Amino acid sequence: MNRDLLASHQPLYVFDEAIFESIADGLVTHGFAVLDNGLPDFLCQTLLDCQASLSEQEYQAAGIGRADDFHHAKEVRGDEICWITGSSEEGALWLSWCDALKQYINRTLFMGLFSFESHFACYEAGKFYKRHVDAFRGQSNRVLSLVAYLNDQWGEEDGGELVIYSNDSDSKGRKVIPRKGTVVVFLSERFPHEVLPAKRTRHSVAGWFRVNGSINQHIDPPK
Ligand code: OGA
Ligand code: MN
Repeated sequence: MNRDLLASHQPLYVFDEAIFESIADGLVTHGFAVLDNGLPDFLCQTLLDCQASLSEQEYQAAGIGRADDFHHAKEVRGDEICWITGSSEEGALWLSWCDALKQYINRTLFMGLFSFESHFACYEAGKFYKRHVDAFRGQSNRVLSLVAYLNDQWGEEDGGELVIYSNDSDSKGRKVIPRKGTVVVFLSERFPHEVLPAKRTRHSVAGWFRVNGSINQHIDPPK
């Protein structure tokens, strides 16, 4: 740790903004961005180490819906997830990269992104996530979705592609191979997407930037 940096109140980490610029460009032009090798190598390695250190007990079956509406639905999604907190150094590094991206997007696109939540996801062979949107218009404060992949040597034969559809009537979509280092960012309310069945264990990190939904006495996010 560089104490001079700390003492001068500079950010703890300084990240290359070129990747943030590509993401912002993609969002402006298409509403989404797909970047091969978008994840800086050191961050990819950090996430891989962190993921590898997780025990099976730390993963939980993913569900759908929020709060009272939350339930597990194996016919919709079969991944296991582990939320990332800043309590480990690895987790803190990931969150600070995402925070730097958030600040860049707010500075350049004025999206008013407020908070971020993120988890590791693991799809065992045969698991999938059926077509869905991450946020329904006006019903959620998730506005920007981010996925990064951690899979070495992943080929088309391994399945598990993310398919991004351009709108509700699009049935063809665009496939993204979940290869190590690939980063996908898209507007949460706009793009239906799905994860096709993986043929072997598939590791990723997913996250969502939210706007602040606090109105009157109702404080968001809820405790
Ligand atoms: C999600 C999701 C996509 C992926 O977790 O909501 O759509 O490629 N993930 O893992
Ligand atoms: Mn999704």
